[in-house]
Amino acid sequence: MPNPSALVCVRCGARYPTDHFAHDCPACRTIGAPANLTVAYDSVPGDGLAREEVARRPASMWRWEAFLPAAASEAVSLGEGNTPLLPAPALGLGDVWIKDESRNPTWSFKDRLASSALTMAKRFGTKVIASSSSGNAGAAAAAYAAKAGLPCIVFTFVGASPPLVAQMRAYGAMVVAVENKADRWRLQSAGVREFGWYPTSPFFGPVVGSNPYGMEGYKTIAFEIAEAFDWQVPDWCVLPVCYGDALFGMWKGFGELQALGWIDRMPRLVAAEVSGSISAAMASGEPMPPDRPRNSASIATSIGASQGTVQALEVLRRSDGVALTIENDELARWVVTLGAKEGIWPEPASAAPFAAIERLRASGVIAPGDRAVALLTASGLKDTAVIETTLPPAPVVGGGLPEVMKALHDVYGFADG
Ligand SMILES: Cc1ncc(COP(=O)(O)O)c(C=O)c1O
Ligand SMILES: [Zn+2]
Repeated sequence: MPNPSALVCVRCGARYPTDHFAHDCPACRTIGAPANLTVAYDSVPGDGLAREEVARRPASMWRWEAFLPAAASEAVSLGEGNTPLLPAPALGLGDVWIKDESRNPTWSFKDRLASSALTMAKRFGTKVIASSSSGNAGAAAAAYAAKAGLPCIVFTFVGASPPLVAQMRAYGAMVVAVENKADRWRLQSAGVREFGWYPTSPFFGPVVGSNPYGMEGYKTIAFEIAEAFDWQVPDWCVLPVCYGDALFGMWKGFGELQALGWIDRMPRLVAAEVSGSISAAMASGEPMPPDRPRNSASIATSIGASQGTVQALEVLRRSDGVALTIENDELARWVVTLGAKEGIWPEPASAAPFAAIERLRASGVIAPGDRAVALLTASGLKDTAVIETTLPPAPVVGGGLPEVMKALHDVYGFADG
């Protein structure tokens, strides 16, 4: 088992102690490129392990313990990971597969982050968990804190998606809402500083990303994809991106497999964002994604932040990756298309990769024979507004079958009988 030996800057490689999980790299901050830290180990992750052996272990992401900061036996786990990788031929996007992360315990990919982060919170002897999240990260932190037996404070904002806030409350978290979004980080920072609250989410600006121990959990998405394809990596992995936690984690995971010789190449990574922040930095070459407030809100509220991170930029630059800015009409179209054609209902943010693949296929960047995996990060039940505003309401019927047939025809265009 490897043990964490340091936290290392994702940008400049400077090393910090393992308990610096609530900080970024001061060196990079000074030059205007504040960067997250990532876990370094005292031995090569996975070294000496046969890749076939992992498949025989109990089903959770902790079967990859040889790559994670803690042992499966000490994990705070709800059975996260091992999500299906499904072919999606009906989408008309060529060789496309869906990594369906909505099948996780709280119905989003954030469970991998929360499981790894909470496991390390216990190891550090933390007393209180804190998250600033109006969405999936807060729900996952709440559930895993409950499982760990630790109190959890979630800062959300007035007007956040009701199902998500209900989810946090259902898991027993102490949810507090702010009127002004900027207050969340200010208040959480004070709690981390004064009381030693353990942060799982970003909580200071300019944003760098989430808890480094939590991010290790995202490596297992890469491992599961490589394993499912019998260690032949797809040409492209396409993700909805906000702070680029999963993007960085997956890239690190594929890198660790390549270092072991379990895979022979890296996939190219695509960041499907809604602010245009990372795309702007890719185009200009600047060191930090700029703040890009939108004129109108994105329906993909989970990835609606206006500024990307250095960690996302680093991955795209080092992996010959691509960033694209996705619009609301594309998101809404792909939400309903995925449900109707593949039987999978994504949250609006999780529709972004499909819009990105559509555009990259059309422009020839993704070649006709290329295989792409879309990361479907969360379930549509988290945010039902798109369905209510895009699709016609269900007609109310009575009387006899002719009336039903008329309604089916009028509302749905159904004429077959
Ligand atoms: C559903 C969903 N998709 C994607 C993201 C993007 O996460 P990140 O880029 O920080 O990994 C988030 C979280 O913020 C999310 O909730
Ligand atoms: Zn640095």
